Amino acid sequence: MSNTPIDPVIAEEVISQFNIPSFGKATIREVVAIASEIEKKTGEEFIHMEMGVPGLKPAQIGVDAEIAALRNGVAAIYPIIDGLPELKKETSRFIKAFIDINISPECCVPVVGSMQGTFASFLTCGQCEKGKDTILFIDPGFPVQKQQITVLGLKYESFDVYDFRGAKLEAKLESFLAKGNIAAIIYSNPNNPSWICLNEEELAIIGKLSNKYDTIILEDLAYFGMDFRKDFGTPFQPPYIPTVARYTENYALLISGSKAFSYAGQRIAVVAMSDKLYNREYPGLTEKYGNGAYGRVFIHRVLYAISSGTCHSAQYALAAMFKGASDGAFNFVEEVKEYGKRAKQLKEIFCNNGFYIVYDKDLGEDIADGFYFTIGYPGMTGGELMKELIYYGVSAISLETTGSNQKGLRACTSFIKDHQYDLLNERMQQFRIYHPID
Ligand SMILES: Cc1ncc(COP(=O)(O)O)c(C=O)c1O
Repeated sequence: MSNTPIDPVIAEEVISQFNIPSFGKATIREVVAIASEIEKKTGEEFIHMEMGVPGLKPAQIGVDAEIAALRNGVAAIYPIIDGLPELKKETSRFIKAFIDINISPECCVPVVGSMQGTFASFLTCGQCEKGKDTILFIDPGFPVQKQQITVLGLKYESFDVYDFRGAKLEAKLESFLAKGNIAAIIYSNPNNPSWICLNEEELAIIGKLSNKYDTIILEDLAYFGMDFRKDFGTPFQPPYIPTVARYTENYALLISGSKAFSYAGQRIAVVAMSDKLYNREYPGLTEKYGNGAYGRVFIHRVLYAISSGTCHSAQYALAAMFKGASDGAFNFVEEVKEYGKRAKQLKEIFCNNGFYIVYDKDLGEDIADGFYFTIGYPGMTGGELMKELIYYGVSAISLETTGSNQKGLRACTSFIKDHQYDLLNERMQQFRIYHPID
């Protein structure tokens, strides 16, 4: 009998089959494959916290609208590449309702998920001006976006924001921007993986420097409204979702259907560019495409070349979800608060058993309970902890893959099932016994 919930011989055998040189750098897919293989071989259930996949049902309002659109025959017709007029109008209204920012419908463009939105944005930003060929990541971040940079042949720079919160952010950002090569800055807010949220003071700094150095800000709102410390679910009423758009006009917001509406499978998001950015002519774009207006190039050159538009029926779905939310008929924030409830319980279990939250504060305030959280264990690196937890039937990814300098793991709440809290508690009590903290 082994002392761990998972037979270490089997776990070791499976891990070694994957030939991963540094376990801390294992990708999400590799961790899923390892955990699933061990589950199959041992018959022991894993507590899966590695995948950032929505664990809730898709918003019904979207499903209904999409089915109706398909019944009306939209599948036969190419969607207009600029986007369905109804979706463009409802995006503009949704942004006004929940962020309190004015963006014209023309500048709101559907994309095949935020993934396509960032890909197309990196590409466009990287071509605006000669010498500005680098994207700056305020990390930790979503690893696939760096892969996009590599695929595109662009360059990136990054830093872990952990030690540069609040006023300290300004000098740090400026140390990169002063070199003159930064085409755009990207961050997610709330942040994947740490769930920190940049506050108004920090967004004001980013906006100010964007103006000073003429750099485009890509604000990735994949977890739109999901900082549950405040109730962002009521349309046209404060509190409004914090945004850099209050501090600069050099921005594009990426709003995804995947998490806030549990609509990841249909691959739908919008890129909402400020009116100023949309219409702005850049020398690099004019040279390459003739017409150098950012928005036109983004749609008619870049998106056209990549996918010729976005799935027609999914646009109807997103339009209906935005409309329902802005009408006050559908409180999307309430629907996803479940993740916050799960995070609260999971964090308690880990913290009661010797773990700590790595990214624990937004300046003075505790971070929100939400889709992700980060955990560390005294004396262990992220890679060591990730491997050790495998023997206890818990899978998560190391922060090493996210551009973080901290030692720990990202845990995602989305796959947790009700019966797994007790199981996790039992396993973590055992973990603690075998990993005494001095
Ligand atoms: C920060 C961030 N951006 C973008 C995405 C991808 O969104 P989409 O499903 O719309 O492509 C994710 C998904 O996990 C994410 O965490």
